[in-house]
Amino acid sequence: MAWKDRTWSFVVLWLLLPVAMMQAQQNPFKDAPASAKEMKNPVAGQQSAIDAGKALYARNCLSCHGKTLQGTGNVPSLVGGKLKGVTAGEIFWFVTKGSPDNGMPPWGFLPEEKRWQIVSYVEAMASGKMTGSAASAPEPASGKGKITAAAPKPPFTDFRYEKPGTVRKITVNDLPKPFATKSASNGAEIVPRPENAWPVTLPGFKVELFASGLDNPRLMRTAPNGDIFVAETHAGDIRVFRGITSDGKAEQSAIFASGLKNPYGIAFYPPGPNPQWVYIGSETELARFPYHNGDLKASGPPQHLADLPAEGHDTRAVNFSPDGKKLFVGVGSGSNVNDPDTHPDEKNRADILWWGFAMRAGRLRSIPRPGSCGAR
Ligand code: HEC
Repeated sequence: MAWKDRTWSFVVLWLLLPVAMMQAQQNPFKDAPASAKEMKNPVAGQQSAIDAGKALYARNCLSCHGKTLQGTGNVPSLVGGKLKGVTAGEIFWFVTKGSPDNGMPPWGFLPEEKRWQIVSYVEAMASGKMTGSAASAPEPASGKGKITAAAPKPPFTDFRYEKPGTVRKITVNDLPKPFATKSASNGAEIVPRPENAWPVTLPGFKVELFASGLDNPRLMRTAPNGDIFVAETHAGDIRVFRGITSDGKAEQSAIFASGLKNPYGIAFYPPGPNPQWVYIGSETELARFPYHNGDLKASGPPQHLADLPAEGHDTRAVNFSPDGKKLFVGVGSGSNVNDPDTHPDEKNRADILWWGFAMRAGRLRSIPRPGSCGAR
């Protein structure tokens, strides 16, 4: 009896789920308020809006609703009479709020103009007036096609087959034996970004260009007030970005500190909403600048706290433990394989150093001496 009861609870669940989803799909517009129904598309019928909407559709909607809007899996089609009698305002309303419980993300974060452009494209497609290649949304550019090499054998892959959300498990047994092939050097060459080439994200996320023209930006940290600090390593600068415009760009950009040697690590201290200092790990030193929420420029000169080994892999990451009692600094190695016992230059390298941490008269007192979290 108990077994039977349990079986039933499974059967009922399995039956209810598809029914609930089908109901949602049958009339997604039934709760639209009258005001939504009457909203007018400010770019209705404009070819430029349809074209812009097509590109936006390709980036945001295609992965679920398909190249020709025909739907995929249990994601509904938007063509073939599906949107008959539905007004532009209702489509705009539905796309804005989405139907998260049923797998349709909300798109309210896209600027209104862009949502209307998408509506224009969807309506043009739904009306059946667009046909042939003008109709189908372009696949996001991927670089596929130019390379004729065979697909790598799983579990290995290459960039042509990589997609966010795809996981591959590579175990030791999958690896070739050491020295199975000769060592090869095949460094990457920087080329201009092809038009429309864009990072691909999971559904519900999108990527926009926030800032460009930076010199070797290598690390980004968000201050408690939302300002974004970026280490421009080659330029020797720490830059701050603030705010975001309606088209996704930074509102303000300023140099917080300059004249540093290959800066990389950035950490706010003390941890929490009201830091008083920004710690910066540069190639040869750990230093800190006075900082208060909202500063776009350091209000005083840096204080030197510790020397760090020079050259080699020059990134010096800096972090505090959540309780603020320990300071960690990652130091890259100076070579590929040397042992610090035989090569003293490798001392305190390929390591995370830490200080039990107290400031006295503006100097870092280590309690005890700098330690090493490295595996030796
Ligand atoms: C992650 C997958 C996914 C993405 C991405 C997505 N949708 Fe949807 N969409 C769905 C699902 C699932 C439904 C059905 C939701 C329901 O029935 O409540 C849906 C429903 C719709 C509907 C209602 C159609 C109907 O008859 O049920 C419209 C219109 C729509 N989506 C437009 C868009 C637009 C425009 C975009 C891009 C801005 C988009 N969708 C992106 C999954 C997605």
